[in-house]
Amino acid sequence: MSLQPEKILILDFGSQYTQLIARRVRELKVYSEIRPFSEPLQKIREFEPSGLILSGSPFSVTDESAPLPASGIFELKVPILGICYGMQLMTHMLGGKVGPSVRREYGAAEMAQLSNSDLFRGLDPNLRVWMSHGDRIDEPPPGFSPIGRTSNSPVAAMSDSRREFYALQFHPEVVHTPQGMEILKNFVYRICGCGPNWTMRSFVEQALADIRSRVGDGRVICGLSGGVDSSVAAVLIHRAIGERLTCIFVDNGLLRLREADKVVKTFRDEFHIPLVFVKAGERFLGKLSSVSDPEKKRKIIGNEFIEIFEEEAGKLGKVDFLAQGTLYPDVIESVSFKGPSATIKSHHNVGGLPERMKLKLIEPLRELFKDEVRLVGKELNIPDEILYRQPFPGPGLAVRVLGEITPERLAVLREADAIVIEEIKAAGLYREIWQSFAVLLPIRTVGVMGDERTYEHVIALRAVNSQDGMTADWVKLPYDLLGRISNRIINEVKGVNRVAYDISSKPPSTIEWE
Ligand code: XMP
Repeated sequence: MSLQPEKILILDFGSQYTQLIARRVRELKVYSEIRPFSEPLQKIREFEPSGLILSGSPFSVTDESAPLPASGIFELKVPILGICYGMQLMTHMLGGKVGPSVRREYGAAEMAQLSNSDLFRGLDPNLRVWMSHGDRIDEPPPGFSPIGRTSNSPVAAMSDSRREFYALQFHPEVVHTPQGMEILKNFVYRICGCGPNWTMRSFVEQALADIRSRVGDGRVICGLSGGVDSSVAAVLIHRAIGERLTCIFVDNGLLRLREADKVVKTFRDEFHIPLVFVKAGERFLGKLSSVSDPEKKRKIIGNEFIEIFEEEAGKLGKVDFLAQGTLYPDVIESVSFKGPSATIKSHHNVGGLPERMKLKLIEPLRELFKDEVRLVGKELNIPDEILYRQPFPGPGLAVRVLGEITPERLAVLREADAIVIEEIKAAGLYREIWQSFAVLLPIRTVGVMGDERTYEHVIALRAVNSQDGMTADWVKLPYDLLGRISNRIINEVKGVNRVAYDISSKPPSTIEWE
């Protein structure tokens, strides 16, 4: 059930861009939902969409196993926009002809408008568009006429304006179609008659209703890390079901300076969320003693976390759900066949936990992008310090103390890291930079302090910009800032006599040093 009067239904045929379509509709402040292509007609009717969008797909409509929607969608008397595969599908199902392109078209193309279609109202006669297709429309279905062409696709866009059916061979949802947002706006506002009424507040209301109906009178546990995603998920769920949510926060001894205290203070004292705080530093460090191999470190930390989490959850009595702050980019596969099978990044070191504990998963943010999660967080009054925190790896400082991890070496890194964060914040760069941190190297170098020769630790600084962590570029930090950081670390952190700046990009380097 939906609380929104005006809404767009997106049927997903498996394209990597489906979520992006939903995001664009959300940016237009119109509620949208993605449902699998196989959604039964009755359910689509009950949703009462103001318009339908048919997504792209890795399939060709001529494949035997091509995903097909309920054929009755064309009788619903609601506007439909088919994108790429969605267009071929409309052609195929409504009596036109689809054939293989002379050559596969991938990348930028120029589309010339052929008539004054409502879909292109207010746009330039020639549009730069992004193509990605192997099939093309040889003959539009009866009632349709071409409204745009490219050199390779005589029917790059078509419409049957009487039935309000529109179709595009290209992708209006990607940034490489610069006026794509205008096209979607025309479809959603002008053709479907929706208004910009939906906001992040509406998202929160919808999410609260969904969580309540899913959880019923069950109980939920949530592992808290102090990062954006798990924090927003926890606060949202707490608002929905109150004390039936318990958060578990494990201090693995690998957190940054005063980090554990801050998390406990925020969630227990300010949000009043029932919180189990496990101080497990010694346990983790015991297991990690004399371990230098980065993958071994990760395994030990992941396993230990799962064990502790299970022990603590066991003490809570019957629990039904495990909440996770999974975001859309974490879901690697396209979610066409929306469900629990979608793969989670291997970096999420707690994979397998829900199966082991026989818990159902609850992931209220899995359809959102990071910036949208921050907006939800703002709506929930979560402090900026959490919402704009830079990503921090699950294994924490363990992968930044290169080589063996000892309490002394951790203490050195912690102090240096705090200085880096403080100075980057003071320079007003913290939010702009994807990640900035210190690394403790497993070597010592010679220095001189006063009249004395020293032989001490080296700290490496790392600052990178990135969209999603998959690729990254080192940041050209101002020299005076680098100088300040270096001076402060060498003067204030006992045992460090040298600071180096990492100027490698990913690939071929990685963001973390281990
Ligand atoms: P790399 O070092 O692979 O990092 O370039 C990409 C992003 O992932 C983070 N990272 C991790 N996060 N567990 C995590 O939760 C891990 O084991 C892990 N290793 C790297 C890293 O901080 C960066 O944001």
